[in-house]
Amino acid sequence: MKIALNAEAYREPDVYKVERQSIWATEWIMFCTTAELAKSGDYFAGEIAGFNLLLVVNPEGSIVGFHNVCPHRAGVLAWPGQGTLGNLVCKYHGWAFGWDGALKSARDFGNDEPLCAEHSELKKVRVETWGPLVFVCLSESTPPLHQSLGSLVDKASSFPIETFKYARRMTRELACNWKTYVDNYLEGYHIQLIHPSLNRSLKMSTYAVSVHDDSYCVHECEPADGSPVAGLWLFRYPNLAMNIYPDGMNVERIVPIGHNKTHVVYDYYSVDTSEANIARMVAMSNEILDEDQDMCEIVQKNLDGGIYQAGPLSPKHEMCLDWFQSKVERSHR
Ligand code: FES
Ligand SMILES: [Fe+2]
Repeated sequence: MKIALNAEAYREPDVYKVERQSIWATEWIMFCTTAELAKSGDYFAGEIAGFNLLLVVNPEGSIVGFHNVCPHRAGVLAWPGQGTLGNLVCKYHGWAFGWDGALKSARDFGNDEPLCAEHSELKKVRVETWGPLVFVCLSESTPPLHQSLGSLVDKASSFPIETFKYARRMTRELACNWKTYVDNYLEGYHIQLIHPSLNRSLKMSTYAVSVHDDSYCVHECEPADGSPVAGLWLFRYPNLAMNIYPDGMNVERIVPIGHNKTHVVYDYYSVDTSEANIARMVAMSNEILDEDQDMCEIVQKNLDGGIYQAGPLSPKHEMCLDWFQSKVERSHR
């Protein structure tokens, strides 16, 4: 019998500290879209598990990435969000940096003594793209993105992702550990109980989940009679979910903001980017997210409460949780 990850892993700040290094500073993590970094000077700044990052398009048209942390006294080069930057200048005391991250000038610092790299250079992060998705990686030793994605790329290619246009982002904050929400995403066992309208659109007896390449899993299900064509639901470790349909997709990221707080970020893409169509997509995922949020937050309270330690995982419905939780557990060692 497979047993779930211990409740401590979902509540202890020390576990989160370990995961920041062993997962979030190691894996390729989707960060934003190519639509937000389309031309020279465009930037996107945001946070992943306490790492403040800045991506910007340099004058040559390449996306470059840095920790959004000034080597002087930890100021930022850009406020979180998106926009355009003419150059890289710290918002705090005005130190200026080149596009390679090297210090150009330490404004009115007071002496000309040379500063070592540690005290003067921005720390770089790796950036690569897959279709419209921009990924970052904080580790030098992780294999390149396309190697890491493996057969996921082929799997998704049965849908015309390249023809979908990015339309909107929705971010929701959940009062739970990031893994509580991922666990929920990884099984369809709860659909009949908490998602009545999703349940009506699916032939639940055909619901199946499978793990591939030790890096992603797939949910498949036939549509209920009379429902529109079903899609493909992919989850890539550690936090990327892609819900793909023939005419559009929503790409969902589960981003920890602390040990007990998580952002679920949805990016909507479609062939038809009319307001009516995007509003329909948003409403659909909002309904499901409302239902999942209520359950995840009450489950988190129970994980925090100390009565539950770890329960059995269904061999029929919860093998993706076993895979995911085993990977997470290995990262704790
Ligand atoms: S913190 Fe950046 S210039 Fe001072
Ligand atoms: Fe759900």
